[in-house]
Amino acid sequence: MDETNQYRCPGRHAVITGGANGIGLAIAGQLCEAGASVSLWDRDEAALGAARAALPPTAKIDSAVVDVMRPESVEAASQATLERHGQIDILVNSAGITGPNATVWDYPIAAWDEVISINLRGTFLSCRAIVPSMRAKGYGRIVNIASIAGKEGNPNASAYSASKAGVISLTKSLGKELADTAIRVNCVTPAAVETGMFAQMTPQHIAYMLAKIPMNRFGQPIEIARLVTWLASADCSFSTGGVFDASGGRATY
Ligand SMILES: NC(=O)c1ccc[n+]([C@@H]2O[C@H](COP(=O)([O-])OP(=O)(O)OC[C@H]3O[C@@H](n4cnc5c(N)ncnc54)[C@H](O)[C@@H]3O)[C@@H](O)[C@H]2O)c1
Repeated sequence: MDETNQYRCPGRHAVITGGANGIGLAIAGQLCEAGASVSLWDRDEAALGAARAALPPTAKIDSAVVDVMRPESVEAASQATLERHGQIDILVNSAGITGPNATVWDYPIAAWDEVISINLRGTFLSCRAIVPSMRAKGYGRIVNIASIAGKEGNPNASAYSASKAGVISLTKSLGKELADTAIRVNCVTPAAVETGMFAQMTPQHIAYMLAKIPMNRFGQPIEIARLVTWLASADCSFSTGGVFDASGGRATY
């Protein structure tokens, strides 16, 4: 696959939550190639080190151990990033977990709370912490990584599906709240993408997701990263509160 990125984000600074792995890491690579500098926020310190080593030596990267579930962690990281870089032009919310695969009636309550806290509340907390500085600067691009599960509701993944439906609605609300500014807020809804996240799911659930994709293959992180790079660039100007598909033909709306 040709990996040349056509979009440009020169001089922009981006924060990517969940940036140490998978889709977030691929987005970091694309944004660096587009001329941005990037702060990777992730709760996995070892993975952050590996991610920094995996990115090209020319990439302008730093990293912070952040738990997006915890307001004080997100707020401290926002402040430190702003002090260091002076601005956060781009926020990509990619931190997420799937939680266990189980029916609603068997779903452990603590696991439900954790999925909602990371996927939905974490996205809210990052937006809440960073939007004021974007408003002050008069520019911003926010891209939330939702999921096709948030549109359709996958069986045996109710917490995940509900959290991602919440991310879609949060994106629509925030997009409208900021529509009269130069800040754009959009989300993407990938179908199954081959990342380390598969280790959290049962083989049956992975097979279910593949069977639903008309292209009959999983997505690759770079394919999501390219869409996100456009949404994170100034070229994305008349779209906000939008939900962008990357599902190999699965989505019907
Ligand atoms: N892989 C897929 O099939 C798929 C499909 C649709 C949407 N998504 C979404 O894409 C996003 C990225 O997923 P991925 O496939 O790259 O998974 P991944 O597991 O490879 O990466 C997720 C990252 O989030 C981090 N993270 C988890 N909880 C965190 C927390 N509380 N604070 C900070 N960081 C935390 C993890 O450490 C990890 O580095 C997720 O929001 C996921 O729901 C994934």
